[in-house]
Amino acid sequence: MKILAIETSCDESSVAYLEADSRGFRRVEQIVAGQAIHEKYGGVVPEVAAREHSATLPPILAKMAETITGSIDGAALGKAVDIIAVTRGPGLVTSLRVGTDTARMLAAAWKKKLIGINHIEGHIYSNWLGEEGWTLWKDRVFPALVLVVSGGHTELLLMTGHGKYRLLGATRDDAAGEAFDKTAKLLGLGYPGGPMISKLGREGDPKAFDFPRPMIDSPKPEFSFAGLKTAVRYFVQKNSARFDDPRFIRDVAASAEQAIVDVLVAKTIRAAKKTKARTLLLAGGVAANTKLRATLAAAAAGIKGLRFVEPRLEYCTDNAGMIAAAAYFRARRRIRDEWRTMEVDPHWELGRS
Ligand code: KG4
Ligand code: ZN
Repeated sequence: MKILAIETSCDESSVAYLEADSRGFRRVEQIVAGQAIHEKYGGVVPEVAAREHSATLPPILAKMAETITGSIDGAALGKAVDIIAVTRGPGLVTSLRVGTDTARMLAAAWKKKLIGINHIEGHIYSNWLGEEGWTLWKDRVFPALVLVVSGGHTELLLMTGHGKYRLLGATRDDAAGEAFDKTAKLLGLGYPGGPMISKLGREGDPKAFDFPRPMIDSPKPEFSFAGLKTAVRYFVQKNSARFDDPRFIRDVAASAEQAIVDVLVAKTIRAAKKTKARTLLLAGGVAANTKLRATLAAAAAGIKGLRFVEPRLEYCTDNAGMIAAAAYFRARRRIRDEWRTMEVDPHWELGRS
């Protein structure tokens, strides 16, 4: 099976090519083009993001055509693929439309099968890409507990088979990625903040300040990060005189990161024990966080019979490789969309009944 995938749900334009057979993914090529323009606004501006996708998609599709066929000629790429996959939701409606409209046109022009993919399902299947992902093809995987941590989502899902999800609980307010981004904004570190907090936090003292860990002791598999953000805001306001001290900024970053990671790990480990999951999967942009990866790996190692799998770094933040991976498993179940009628679904939630 040869899949061309497109991802434009937020502010990353990405295309991927994936070759798969029943034993694994044989070849994955992907191009990701970020949109630096949002930095000056301190967040993603939907209209601007959509315009950037329109400008970026054609050249990166041509570049992918060249990588796969040796020619930028789109017709040659059309001959090289069987399926067009695209993110259909959740995400920003205007951004999603650029990707889905492009995919619909390609599917119609090239007479290919079309598969609309849930962005979060894409993040989950990023675990199947890369080296460690190979074990997921051979061993028994399900039930798998998934911790989804992105800019818009923080949730625990139980995956009982391919494409079968049950939502155990989600955040009541901010997502973990938002908690990182908002903390970074308060510290004047720019957008997106997660990578900066992580980088500075590495040099800071995570025990310097004791920020709240909301809902950490609650047995419910739910999260809340709004209180943490407020606590950091008051703390930063009270200590504004120390803002010029780089050590202070590093310590706040490290302490806030520690608070977020402590909550995510505690809740996930409790859910893993309760559900008796065989596998623990990490998914979403915040999965790139080194501290989260290391802490979760160490905690999971303490649970007998639980295998922890994390996506490779290049597949953590938004990318089309993960969309192609999810499309492969949907195609295997013969799920398809129709180019004439396929619509975006900006609020598509996995596993809610
Ligand atoms: O999955 P993603 O690329 O986009 C959404 O689907 O929302 O996730 C983006 C989020 C942002 O909030 C960003 O700050 C966060 O992932 N992020 C990180 C790191 N890299 C990206 N958060 C913490 N540590 C990181 N290294
Ligand atoms: Zn994402």
